[in-house]
Amino acid sequence: MIHSSSPGKLMLFGEHSVVYGNPCIATSVNKRLDVYVEENNEILIEGMNKISKFPSNENEHKFLNLTIEKIFEELEKKGKKPNKKFKIRTTQLEKGIGSSSAVVVSSLKALSHFYNLNLSNEEIFEIGFKIVNEIQGKASGYDIAVAVYGGTIFYQNFENKYRIEKLKNLKNLLAIYTGKYSDTTELIKEIHEKFLKYPEIIKGIFEITNEIVKNAKEAIENEDYEVIGNLMNINHGILNSLNLSDEEIENLINETKKFCYGAKISGAGRGDYIIALCKDKENLKNLSEILNKKGIKNF
Ligand code: MEV
Repeated sequence: MIHSSSPGKLMLFGEHSVVYGNPCIATSVNKRLDVYVEENNEILIEGMNKISKFPSNENEHKFLNLTIEKIFEELEKKGKKPNKKFKIRTTQLEKGIGSSSAVVVSSLKALSHFYNLNLSNEEIFEIGFKIVNEIQGKASGYDIAVAVYGGTIFYQNFENKYRIEKLKNLKNLLAIYTGKYSDTTELIKEIHEKFLKYPEIIKGIFEITNEIVKNAKEAIENEDYEVIGNLMNINHGILNSLNLSDEEIENLINETKKFCYGAKISGAGRGDYIIALCKDKENLKNLSEILNKKGIKNF
């Protein structure tokens, strides 16, 4: 049996702006998705509580279907044949922390091993990015990069040239669930409409976001948590100006204030997770307890 796993992710700085070739900073989280591959007499896919033969008609298996197709393409490119069949099983990662990228990356890794393809991290990143792009449309690929490399990364995809740099990990970062689903594809479209309508303003906003990311990279390397928190607040203000927050999210952000250096939306906006950089372990524990009492999921 082959086992591989990939971590979930959160965006720290630069969401949306990164889709336009600008840099962002993202991190992996301490929740992982596992994939198991074993030899079988037919190709079977098991995931999201469903089992199906390949190619699966289940909507829930669309990422796995395309991943298997891409592995067969890789085999063909290297003049190899899929000489054995397999069953692939995946565990679940909760929504909003990159389950699609984690499933694609860990399946590519496991199947590359199963067929002795020896795909490098760079190859896994590039194939994984193609898969997510084909299914979801316009995206930056940062979630795939986090699933491949883990840790905290500075990421930029400028005209298909990638810059991926490892940064120090942040301490005392709390992820808080907003209780709502964030539709990334729709929100990317919404920002694109704004970009077409007010190009100079949105370009200006992205330039400021670049400056935030640049400063945040330095502050992370210097472990200057007060500066990181300030920059999170500024980045959140920008996302709010793009109508990516709402009343409930603002209330949640305000609730974190006395425990934190800063807090912001993480990801496409209007749902999924917000992130809060707590002042220390004690503050993190206190904030987490208050949220738990209110039934607000956090980790
Ligand atoms: C969503 O998690 C972050 C966005 O920047 C989209 C992307 O980078 O692919 C909105």
